[in-house]
Amino acid sequence: METRTKYIVGNWKMNGDYALVMRMIAALRAVGPLPGVTPVICPPFTLLHAFSELLGMGHLALGAQNCSDVAEGTRTGDISPAMLREQGCKYVILGHSERRQHRGYTNEHIAAKVTLACGSGLVPILCVGETIEQRQNGVAQAAVQEQVATALDHARGQEIIVSYEPVWAIGTGQVAEIRDIAEMHDVILSQCERMGFHNVHILYGGSVNPLNVGDIMATPGVDGVLLGRAAIEPDQFIAIAKQAQNLA
Ligand code: PGA
Repeated sequence: METRTKYIVGNWKMNGDYALVMRMIAALRAVGPLPGVTPVICPPFTLLHAFSELLGMGHLALGAQNCSDVAEGTRTGDISPAMLREQGCKYVILGHSERRQHRGYTNEHIAAKVTLACGSGLVPILCVGETIEQRQNGVAQAAVQEQVATALDHARGQEIIVSYEPVWAIGTGQVAEIRDIAEMHDVILSQCERMGFHNVHILYGGSVNPLNVGDIMATPGVDGVLLGRAAIEPDQFIAIAKQAQNLA
């Protein structure tokens, strides 16, 4: 039976500099390839190129944190999927809650990006998750289902990754209950299967660290984690990747 890779995705957000890239490269080189694990680093656009020396060596894959919803032309400040591919990116995070919150992204807007990214050969890492109010009002599952259904509507048959990230768990130190993670992963998987996606990987994100990752990764339906804070600490990123390997 083919083993499913475990994804460890590091979202650097608006953090990091060239020195951090060098420290991360040294740490990844020291540990070498981790069979069964796919480490993905998503630095700011300006640092993508600095990782190129490691690409193709099996140590990591590169991703971006966003992309444009149009392929080229008059969009000052945008970065297209083709530009990301040229920088060596295989993945792109789309629909992160910080962009939904601070940049007003709607599910429809995210859908346009997902469709374009897939068509350009990138694998979208679609972030979905409920707010604390939605969880308290008992509509968390419906909200997440709607995010998945709309964002993936025009990408049927493509390779995609979904990351479940409760908004209230991001950067707060508060992790979702294991039972709730398992339940929501099941909801996402069923929705994806209804839409014809049959090999989707589903990650969890939100305050993951080396101490809690073991329990999270051992949860049925969890194919990896998306890290924020722990992704900019090379030691933590490696420690988490190694634990994922033990479970792979
Ligand atoms: P965090 O961020 O690990 O710092 O909570 C996760 C994310 O934003 O995906």
